[in-house]
Amino acid sequence: MSGTFRALVLHREEEGGIVARLEELSETALPAGEVLVEVLYSSLNYKDGLAITGAGKIVREFPFVPGIDLAGRVRESAVADYRPGDLVLLTGWGVGERHWGGLAERARVRAEWLLPLPEGLDPKRAMTIGTAGFTAMLCVMALAEQGVAAGGGELLVTGAGGGVGSIATALLARRGYRVAAVTGRPDLAGYLRDLGAAEILERAGVLDSGRGPLASQRWAGAVDTVGGAVLAALLKALRYGGTVTACGLAGGADLHTTVFPFILRGVKLIGIDSVYCPRERRLEAWRNLARELDPTLLDQITTVVPLEKAAETARGFLEGKIRGRVVVAVGEEN
Ligand SMILES: NC(=O)c1ccc[n+]([C@@H]2O[C@H](COP(=O)([O-])OP(=O)(O)OC[C@H]3O[C@@H](n4cnc5c(N)ncnc54)[C@H](OP(=O)(O)O)[C@@H]3O)[C@@H](O)[C@H]2O)c1
Repeated sequence: MSGTFRALVLHREEEGGIVARLEELSETALPAGEVLVEVLYSSLNYKDGLAITGAGKIVREFPFVPGIDLAGRVRESAVADYRPGDLVLLTGWGVGERHWGGLAERARVRAEWLLPLPEGLDPKRAMTIGTAGFTAMLCVMALAEQGVAAGGGELLVTGAGGGVGSIATALLARRGYRVAAVTGRPDLAGYLRDLGAAEILERAGVLDSGRGPLASQRWAGAVDTVGGAVLAALLKALRYGGTVTACGLAGGADLHTTVFPFILRGVKLIGIDSVYCPRERRLEAWRNLARELDPTLLDQITTVVPLEKAAETARGFLEGKIRGRVVVAVGEEN
């Protein structure tokens, strides 16, 4: 029906818990913004798992529509940059955290948060990449900028079975790096090899880095999606001048380390943020993603769920059960 749309809505219960319900809303309920988007696809990321379950203090005002990613078609626009019918993409900027997000058939957003759909991608493909793939590319770009070159030694990807980890593994392998994929799920070995990992390491083995502040030098670089003890352990085993890009906390937000890797080996720890990444950098990353990711491989690592199943599926992130990427089919694609 025109003027109303389906949305996943989070409510806070009296006891403080969060409940997610599929509801019919009116477009007049949407927050302010210059562009009204008909959402065709969204995706699920770790942060959506935190928001939808309430396990992380991501959402503070209720009722709230979650979903940090969306791709769709412009319906109405108050700015010249976008016209009805344009295909667009949005990740981050606090959408799905402070501003109603993509797990709904409509989203009203600020024009400056949108990107035109990159050439070579359709809305579904853009969401197989989503925040996770975008973040993976930011990590890969940062490693290259820090001088970590293909052929210059082995790289580690932690949380390799997850969304960021899977796409980082594929991107790095495609660029010619030798990738060791760290996983807590040894049954994913075949999956990770198909993504291009040359070696599969069990998480427990990586954590065992000895008691001293340094371990033998092994890794030229790393994409770390896990944080905590895994990040601390891999910092000790980086080669002289090596770089870690840290983007996640699936294994913990604390970091207990010493300065020795930094002052004795010139190791670099580079933080990666996808949410407020500047526009020019976004455009560059999405251009790279459209060019470098093999669409067949992307399909292999992606599960598509309907909006009705989004909340239940999002819980899997907190249980470490999600493999690869989850796309949410939200609207009709024609
Ligand atoms: N900085 C940013 O802008 C940004 C953007 C996107 C994501 N992130 C963060 O990056 C992380 C990954 O996001 P995602 O969407 O890829 O999530 P995900 O699909 O759930 O992947 C996380 C992976 O981490 C591993 N893991 C889970 N629990 C763990 C634990 N207790 N200890 C060690 N490893 C554990 C699992 O991999 P295995 O089973 O293979 O071990 C899991 O698949 C999250 O922390 C997310 O918040 C940050």
